[in-house]
Amino acid sequence: MKKYTVTSPANIAFIKYWGRSDHKLFIPANSNISMNLSSCLTTTTACLTDSKEDEVLVRFHNQKYQKLSPKDHKSKALFAQIKRIRKLSKYNKKVKIYSQNNFPADAGIASSASSFSALTSVLLLTYELKDLFNNKKELSKQIRLCGSGSAVRSCMDGFVKFKTGKDHDSSFATQIADHNHWDLIDIVAIVDDKKKKVSSSLGHELAETSSFFNQRIKDISKRMKACEKAILEKDLKKLGEITEEDCLSMISVMMTSKPSVIYWNEGSISLINSVYSWRENDNLPVYFSFDAGANAHLITEKKYQTKVLNKLKKNPFIKSTIINNVDKGTRITNKHLF
Ligand code: PMV
Repeated sequence: MKKYTVTSPANIAFIKYWGRSDHKLFIPANSNISMNLSSCLTTTTACLTDSKEDEVLVRFHNQKYQKLSPKDHKSKALFAQIKRIRKLSKYNKKVKIYSQNNFPADAGIASSASSFSALTSVLLLTYELKDLFNNKKELSKQIRLCGSGSAVRSCMDGFVKFKTGKDHDSSFATQIADHNHWDLIDIVAIVDDKKKKVSSSLGHELAETSSFFNQRIKDISKRMKACEKAILEKDLKKLGEITEEDCLSMISVMMTSKPSVIYWNEGSISLINSVYSWRENDNLPVYFSFDAGANAHLITEKKYQTKVLNKLKKNPFIKSTIINNVDKGTRITNKHLF
């Protein structure tokens, strides 16, 4: 039976998605913007099988393959997406899937973005729903239905916007600029490579319990416009300021939700202070962002990479770094995993 393999990047959001307006259709409470990360990739191979069960094996960074069970709560969204896509197709055959990540999962490096965009894409190809795969807007809507909003942004090249909307048809991804547009980089500074304690799907449900949530949503449309403009004009200072502002606004919502969600550790705080000091004292234009995790994303231009890496070497909290250029979106490869 025909085998397909796709690779998908994770991404870092400049305007974050935290909270939903529709928890069934997974429509984000606000539109959001990101860039794809060239060194944080998931590769997934799939083919139809005569087996009685779907078979899913996943290998995280530096680990062995583990078989996922549909009974495990954490794999619910994945098996639901398989079932949903199978129903759209003319097949009722089960599927065999192997997937691997080349970066630490669940540490605030949007592993769900690369995993779910790769999974959805490979399923659409395997179940011969190629029209849905080839049409990026449709693909992004199919990815949204798996529950990971950040995954929606990974299917297109470069800098991508995920529009909120009022229903299934009006909430999808669009491209702002492709991966060749700007030599921006994201250096991920890993200060904690363990699994995060609160999943982002739970976080999205808690977001509205924060009294800052409505104010955040009100502020966002202005930030969205400014962010898109900064990307198109390659204005690092403007993009960096908006990114930090939006990140801190999301973190405030996280910290003040009930119960409170705190992902940062002392390494995260030390990096924020360092970034402020490098800008002020060393004239080094680098800006921070965090997702649902302790690890910092340091946004700058390629020409400042060596300087930033040299500075990072002096920080005792950093376990490793991952250097990302702006990447393409989901793509088909022939590097099958089985
Ligand atoms: O895509 P999810 O459901 O894992 O949520 C992602 C949330 C953040 O990474 C914190 C923000 C974002 O927009 O990427």
